Amino acid sequence: MATLFKRWRGVSSVPVPPTVAAGGDQRPAFLDTLWLDEDAAVRESDLPRFSAMASDDVDTATEEPALARARLALRDALGASQPVISRDRFAGRHDALAQLIAAIEQQRLHVVIYGERGIGKTSLVHVFAETAREARYLVLYGSCGTDGRFDEIFRAFAAKIPMLYHRSVLPTTAVVEQALHFDTMLPEGHFGPREASDLLSDVVGTRVILILDEYDRIADTNFRRDVAELIKNLSDRAARVQLILTGVASNLDELIGFAPSIRRNIVGLPMRPLKTEEIGEILHLGESAAGLSFTGDAIATVGSLAGGSPYLVRLLGHRAAMAALDQRRTVIDVAQVKNAVERVLTDWNATLPRRVQALLAGNEAREHWSLLVAAAEAGTYSDGWFVAADVAAELPAGTSPASIEVELQRLAGPHSLLEVERRSDEARFRYRFPGVASLLLMSAALARIDR
Ligand SMILES: Nc1ncnc2c1ncn2[C@@H]1O[C@H](COP(=O)(O)OP(=O)(O)OP(=O)(O)O)[C@@H](O)[C@H]1O
Ligand SMILES: [Mg+2]
Repeated sequence: MATLFKRWRGVSSVPVPPTVAAGGDQRPAFLDTLWLDEDAAVRESDLPRFSAMASDDVDTATEEPALARARLALRDALGASQPVISRDRFAGRHDALAQLIAAIEQQRLHVVIYGERGIGKTSLVHVFAETAREARYLVLYGSCGTDGRFDEIFRAFAAKIPMLYHRSVLPTTAVVEQALHFDTMLPEGHFGPREASDLLSDVVGTRVILILDEYDRIADTNFRRDVAELIKNLSDRAARVQLILTGVASNLDELIGFAPSIRRNIVGLPMRPLKTEEIGEILHLGESAAGLSFTGDAIATVGSLAGGSPYLVRLLGHRAAMAALDQRRTVIDVAQVKNAVERVLTDWNATLPRRVQALLAGNEAREHWSLLVAAAEAGTYSDGWFVAADVAAELPAGTSPASIEVELQRLAGPHSLLEVERRSDEARFRYRFPGVASLLLMSAALARIDR
């Protein structure tokens, strides 16, 4: 921890503006307007500008065009803020894609994809959707919100399935000419899984895949129960509609709730951390897009820092490559990767409230450093939540969960790092600010590398 904060002090020093010469203004008053204009011109040209137009054309007036083009290419190939939506930007994950295709095509089952945040669930389903559309599946994508309602979401899906695919409709009838959709067959107002499965069982002439992304965000347990019932009904009727649910969870039950009735009808697909060669593949996409290359050591360092998360591989790879471009280098080495991780840590730290920054830099956090990192590790798979036993599993054998629980409770005061939720038989904890867990994990990885 001490190392980490020493580093932060080092990199976060704000550049000091050149001091204004003392001694008063000697200029004649009548020149004021002229001087002001000149100053304004200088200031304006000094201000940072965009290096490319909104159309992605490079602005040759502001920067070397080759450099600006490399930056744009890097952003597209390694930018970490958006999921991958096309196959040419998708690296690795061949086994996950193959399993998903097999579950849909061979087994005709519904699929639940689960794993930690940023592991690549949304990217996988987008690339799967592209592949399935090539095989003439009708694939519809929906993202769930906390206040999502069953009837709203399935009405929106129905509104995208043309009546051409309804059992009762002949291709020559008026509803086809009027381009009507399945939603016209739904009752007004509220409806449930029975009406939805009645309607979806009437799909003919194609196969429909409904993707419900971010399923973990649905807070309403009735919604999950309705989806389970829909899956059961669709399976019992051998309907030509399959569901894919994705969400942050450590296991299947956590995501779909306790639903023994549909166990036979679904396949659980856990998203694993990336393998070393897959990390290399992602970075290679950046290399070929921008004409740069990562050394073997740099790739290995990104791999150890990212811990198998494609999000972190892209974030660090992108930052390291940008650092190399700033230095007019085409080879990215460990130094640029370390520079990238330090900048990422500084940014993450800056997003935390000052109180939390001070807590992290304080003595108490330093004393409990291993425990804090183990807790961050323990929360990775359940959107941050962990119990004392999960933390014990991350610490050397022999550390008792009971003593860990005492420490965690101490750290869970109203102004402290952890929040606590009491359940009937145990207390579960989570970092009050999600950024803290990422910060701890990344700085622990950096300390390991430094050692
Ligand atoms: N196979 C892949 N190849 C290249 N980049 C990937 C791949 N999978 C994921 N990424 C990148 O990792 C980041 C996270 O991916 P994605 O949004 O798909 O994860 P997620 O599991 O859906 O995250 P969340 O839990 O936040 O919804 C994105 O920047 C995405 O571009
Ligand atoms: Mg996602």
